[in-house]
Amino acid sequence: MVEEGNPDTIAADGQAMNIDRHEFYQKAVQYPASDIDIFLEVYQKEYGREPLVIREDFCGTALLSTIWVSGDRARRAIAIDIDQETLDWGLAHNIQPAGSDVEGRIELIQADVLEGEGPPADIICAMNFSFNILDTREKLLRYFTAARQSVADGGLFILEMFGGTEAIVAGIEDREKEGFTYRWETEWFDPITNTARCHIGFLFPDGSSMERAFSYDWRLWSLPEVTDLLRDAGFGSWRIFWEEVDDDGAGTGEYRETTGEENQETWIVYIVAKV
Ligand SMILES: C[S@@+](CC[C@H](N)C(=O)[O-])C[C@H]1O[C@@H](n2cnc3c(N)ncnc32)[C@H](O)[C@@H]1O
Repeated sequence: MVEEGNPDTIAADGQAMNIDRHEFYQKAVQYPASDIDIFLEVYQKEYGREPLVIREDFCGTALLSTIWVSGDRARRAIAIDIDQETLDWGLAHNIQPAGSDVEGRIELIQADVLEGEGPPADIICAMNFSFNILDTREKLLRYFTAARQSVADGGLFILEMFGGTEAIVAGIEDREKEGFTYRWETEWFDPITNTARCHIGFLFPDGSSMERAFSYDWRLWSLPEVTDLLRDAGFGSWRIFWEEVDDDGAGTGEYRETTGEENQETWIVYIVAKV
């Protein structure tokens, strides 16, 4: 279940009052160019050719789809999100400014990913831990089964996932960004259900803030739970790519394939599954 921050009730003051929360979300947590580099590298190694069609599930503002399609005139994207307001923002601020040629090669679909809408794709991806929104085994299996049916022959299903010892503890983590601070807040974690309520906020040099600009109620899945469900949904194999961290535990954007690791305070992986 997701509980997005309501734009009408989010508290903000000073500099924070004038910001656009979608713009700062993108600046704080999205790295579409490096996601795409990894997609290309993994797909090329797997199949010896380039993918052309991606489907971005839980696409939010469809930034990844826009960057994908802008990179090559042969590329297309299908971008799916349940929230029309977020899709409208992405259309006005990402897709349309990229030009009519780019706009013509992106199919924006307002739908629940569980419904399995959209044509086949070479890569189906769910970035930024979005599948945690599906908080029961039944829902996650239904989503994976729908994705399995839409991955083209010779395709990949790529999930970005996080975990670690800090992921299951209430607390606040601040990260410095250019001109603002990005705040990740875990309000609570319930070990009976492995569900958590998390928030994203933005803090500014004048002391003002927009706290809880985005809020999520979600399930913290474990890696074996996810890979078991991938198998149940019909995926034949998967590979795990682990993000390297620096001495402060911050992600470096570099990934290596792995089959076993020490736990960390926070870790991020791509799970790359194929049929
Ligand atoms: C964490 S944001 C991810 C945005 C973007 N993909 C990213 O990488 O940052 C989650 C998005 O999932 C959407 N969403 C939530 N439940 C959904 C569902 N059942 N089907 C499709 N989209 C959903 C929300 O509207 C929101 O835009």
